[in-house]
Amino acid sequence: MEMGFYFYIVCCFLIFFSKASTAIDTISLSESLTDGKTLVSNGGSFALGFFSPYISNSNNRYLGIWYHNDPNQTVVWVANRINPIKGSTGVLKIESSGKIVLQVQNTTVVWSTNSTASVENPVLQLLDSGNLVLRDGKDINPENYLWQSFDYPSDTMLPGMKIGVDLRTGFDRRLSAWKNWDDPSPGDLTYGVELEGSPEMVLMKGLEKYYLTGVWVGNGFSGIRDVRSNPIYDYHFVWNETETYYTFSLKNKSVMSRVVLNQSERVRKRFTWNPENQTWEMFAMRPSDYCDRYGLCGPNGNCDYNKLPVCQCLTGFRPKWPERWNSSEYSGGCIHSKPLNCQTGDGFITIRRVKSPAITNPWVHKTMNLKECKAECLRNCSCMAYINLDFTGGGGSGCAMWFGDLVDIKQFQSDSDGIDLYIRVSASETELKKKAKVKLAIILAPVIAALSGLLLVVCYIRRNRRKLKGEGGFGPVYKGTLANGQEIAVKRLSKSSGQGLNEFKNEQHPDERPSMSSVVLMLGSHNELPSPKQPGFLFYNKPFEVDSSPGNDESSSRNEISLSTFEAR
Ligand SMILES: *[C@@H]1O[C@H](CO)[C@@H](O)[C@H](O)[C@H]1NC(C)=O
Ligand SMILES: *[C@@H]1O[C@H](CO)[C@@H](O)[C@H](O)[C@H]1NC(C)=O
Ligand SMILES: *[C@@H]1O[C@H](CO)[C@@H](O)[C@H](O)[C@H]1NC(C)=O
Ligand SMILES: *[C@@H]1O[C@H](CO)[C@@H](O)[C@H](O)[C@H]1NC(C)=O
Ligand SMILES: *[C@@H]1O[C@H](CO)[C@@H](O)[C@H](O)[C@H]1NC(C)=O
Ligand SMILES: *[C@@H]1O[C@H](CO)[C@@H](O)[C@H](O)[C@H]1NC(C)=O
Ligand SMILES: *[C@@H]1O[C@H](CO)[C@@H](O)[C@H](O)[C@H]1NC(C)=O
Ligand SMILES: *[C@@H]1O[C@H](CO)[C@@H](O)[C@H](O)[C@H]1NC(C)=O
Ligand SMILES: *[C@@H]1O[C@H](CO)[C@@H](O)[C@H](O)[C@H]1NC(C)=O
Repeated sequence: MEMGFYFYIVCCFLIFFSKASTAIDTISLSESLTDGKTLVSNGGSFALGFFSPYISNSNNRYLGIWYHNDPNQTVVWVANRINPIKGSTGVLKIESSGKIVLQVQNTTVVWSTNSTASVENPVLQLLDSGNLVLRDGKDINPENYLWQSFDYPSDTMLPGMKIGVDLRTGFDRRLSAWKNWDDPSPGDLTYGVELEGSPEMVLMKGLEKYYLTGVWVGNGFSGIRDVRSNPIYDYHFVWNETETYYTFSLKNKSVMSRVVLNQSERVRKRFTWNPENQTWEMFAMRPSDYCDRYGLCGPNGNCDYNKLPVCQCLTGFRPKWPERWNSSEYSGGCIHSKPLNCQTGDGFITIRRVKSPAITNPWVHKTMNLKECKAECLRNCSCMAYINLDFTGGGGSGCAMWFGDLVDIKQFQSDSDGIDLYIRVSASETELKKKAKVKLAIILAPVIAALSGLLLVVCYIRRNRRKLKGEGGFGPVYKGTLANGQEIAVKRLSKSSGQGLNEFKNEQHPDERPSMSSVVLMLGSHNELPSPKQPGFLFYNKPFEVDSSPGNDESSSRNEISLSTFEAR
């Protein structure tokens, strides 16, 4: 009985020690890590050790960090990227100088960190975040790192890692792809922060920009605003006097998610681990469509994936070389249709839902509001465009301006994507737009009146029918064709029959509909405009919105939305 009990205790000890010996996460001054041994982080998420990137005859060995519970041991960091060890003779050590040293056969150093101040009791530890850190074992603050692998990323970004620049030292942390699937040495595809003006994230191919996220506008990057509400991660962007970096954190800490560059595919992909079938599933990819490619439509072009051709000139611009443009050669881009004349006055056109142009000659003001921004841009003849930034939250303040050509604009369709870009055009251009609007309004007003009358009748009949049958449901869509051949869709917005009719009546109340004369007045006027009511039944899908002539007040001019979208082209 007693023997059995002791046996049990001894067994427990043995199990405990064997567990403990396989799950060490630190090495100290007198210890080393040889090929075949691994450090495993405290929570079991990551392992550090020697690996070969592929199963083949090559005996190239690298020191790296990989996901511990991924059967394929997906590598997230490599120390000796350019200096493989031939064979299993690598040894990892730390020195009292505060250096981490990777040696071959106890002699040749293949990789080392720079010496920090000498430390009495240096400890190298693999954290459960995947960060390999060196600290002074005597330091009471365990987060005082003398060195950390997160500062020297390979091709993979993990939660908590910062990609960006320390402005005090100029230290730039960026991802660089593996040269090849079997060669972890850095390829020429990199991902980091571009610091000109309002910063943005940039995928570079060598020295060339390959894909830009669009500038940071305070609550997102102008070109990837859709990622704000995703179920997996939150992202953070810090931009102040001391540092500028991008980082992300997981919404659910037990989900695994990583961002990785791929040289051969020239992409940045985000993967998320699916524990059920033990695979990495792709969550997102950049660039993700044709229009994401940097500068595809040339200067002052707008890439719209839903149009043919995808390259369009910005409103107020025409192809610089029309013949080449017609044969899909877009690099020449576009020029102003009407030359600017700063002295007699230029105006601005609003281009909605776009990715901001690449910053060339940046000018950013973090507190200036939209009105001041416009005035400032108007004053400086070389200011070509401006946008509103939101650094206070809730549509607050901030202003960025562009001087010179506008490159890399991409058109989005949804209101939750992109930003409003205000571009400089000649005053005659805005006059032209206004005349076109008046002309269209003259055509439109009777059509609107006729259609609403028709709708009222139809709805009345339908309601009475429904009352008999007792049915509900969505309203029908009516299609009509305008005098100029443009098709419009007319739809009733009701959800249930009875209430729907009331809504409809309210929306279409004749007193609230602008009369013909007031429509013309509104369009011709530079002054205060009445706030238009919800248009209610006109659906259109054109992103452009004509803004004002010089000196016009921002808030009033933006109210023209309900009719201005029907421009003659
Ligand atoms: C490395 O060198 C140390 C001291 O110089 C020695 O004790 C150790 O056995 C050597 N290890 C190998 C693998 O040669
Ligand atoms: C060591 O310092 C040099 C010069 O500051 C730097 O170029 C190099 O990248 C550093 N190496 C490591 C491994 O930190
Ligand atoms: C890049 O993608 C290709 C194609 O999907 C894949 O075969 C390759 O392993 C990837 N490269 C790296 C370094 O993961
Ligand atoms: C910049 O932001 C970082 C992270 O929020 C913070 O630690 C640092 O103190 C900030 N610097 C300044 C000057 O505000
Ligand atoms: C977090 O993810 C794990 C694993 O997928 C899941 O079991 C758990 O329910 C999730 N927790 C929350 C709060 O969603
Ligand atoms: C993995 O499982 C998910 C559902 O959990 C499924 O949608 C997906 O197709 C599976 N993938 C593979 C490669 O089997
Ligand atoms: C592991 O590798 C095999 C073979 O390359 C592949 O079929 C499998 O999908 C990979 N599994 C994971 C989790 O990536
Ligand atoms: C380009 O195409 C447009 C539309 O098809 C046409 O109107 C224009 O004349 C063409 N321009 C040239 C220079 O071929
Ligand atoms: C316009 O702005 C540019 C760029 O900031 C500046 O160099 C130039 O001096 C400004 N011109 C005027 C007239 O303010």
